[in-house]
Amino acid sequence: MTDTAQPTDVLTESLTADERLADLSADQLRQLVGLVDYDAAGDVFPVTGWDAVHWVVGNATQTAKHYQAAFGMRLEAYAGPETGQREHVSYVLRSGSCRFVVSGGVAPTSPLLEHHRRHGDGVSDISLEVPDVDACIRHARSVGAVVLTEPHDLGDEHGTVRTATIAAYGDTVHTLVDRSRYTGPYLPGYVARTSTYRPREGSPRRIFQALDHVVGNVELGQMDQWVRFYNEVMGFTNMAEFIGDDIATDYSALMSKVVANGNHRVKFPLNEPAVASRRSQIDEFLEFYDGPGAQHLALATNDILTAVDQMRAEGVEFLDTPGTYYTDPRLRARIGNVRVPIEELQSRGILVDRDEDGYLLQIFTKPLGDRPTVFFELIERHGSLGFGKGNFKALFEAIEREQERRGNL
Ligand SMILES: [Fe+2]
Repeated sequence: MTDTAQPTDVLTESLTADERLADLSADQLRQLVGLVDYDAAGDVFPVTGWDAVHWVVGNATQTAKHYQAAFGMRLEAYAGPETGQREHVSYVLRSGSCRFVVSGGVAPTSPLLEHHRRHGDGVSDISLEVPDVDACIRHARSVGAVVLTEPHDLGDEHGTVRTATIAAYGDTVHTLVDRSRYTGPYLPGYVARTSTYRPREGSPRRIFQALDHVVGNVELGQMDQWVRFYNEVMGFTNMAEFIGDDIATDYSALMSKVVANGNHRVKFPLNEPAVASRRSQIDEFLEFYDGPGAQHLALATNDILTAVDQMRAEGVEFLDTPGTYYTDPRLRARIGNVRVPIEELQSRGILVDRDEDGYLLQIFTKPLGDRPTVFFELIERHGSLGFGKGNFKALFEAIEREQERRGNL
């Protein structure tokens, strides 16, 4: 990167290896996830982007198939008893630049089984790609972060990966990964593997292209502490703030703040419950996840209509959106013109929000596992760098209807 490079060149040159592999351009990423230029000089904790989202689940073998069938992901690596990993199995799945690692215990003594007993299916590690693991850990330690694994090298015939792990909210961790000297399929210990699963005829090449944001739910009164953690430990900046009435319904309320890394690839909204007359969805999450954890992952797509149709055809259930959402004249006035007729959105339950920069289309799934905890969002951005603030009330009323059916409101 040179001082004289134009912004587009800076972005193009700074695409991650995963993005190049996925044939994504800087312009596409600017649209998909709001990628911005930034100068890493002076960043105390430079983060390039996401490395992987690690899931601990009750049945990794079946979950991996579900992500292939319903989310259009492709299997690309594997570790398990056949590869020398006696304790657990891990499947590495990809869509675009987004990588999931789905793991489940095999040996009865596997610590993953205890993680799953406590939390159910969920995100254990939001792993980040960094250019200098040691510098990040030095800074993190100097401002009081808990270092769970010291920087160390993992190596095999494909090269070396440098990695370390720090603690985040609840049992969630961030593993920092520098894979710039590694050419293997994922990490040492994993072998390349493709799947016997075959997508249906006519399926799109991908349902989503990238990960946009991962939301964390923390306990009442803890949100600001975790915002400070990301500010001070990771040098993340605050993007937007929603407080009080912004996301209060008649029954429940929450507070939310968003932090992002320098180039905005990594965005972490952080929620805490707010005091209200009845239990909020955050309280329900905290009870059933048994503590703080990742609440939802937003998957960036350039065609949310096809994405929803494909996922629904494979049995994924989305939150219902009340018909009044679409007939409300205030909505029509608020959203202006979007790329498809409102009827197309209404028939699928897709939400629209607009701000000064543009608009976004979004929809939320129901929780995927047995517990009412982690779920997914599909997001199609058209200029808007927001998170759907204007939809929060309509959305939360829909979530509360589900909570009420479960007897948890
Ligand atoms: Fe979201």
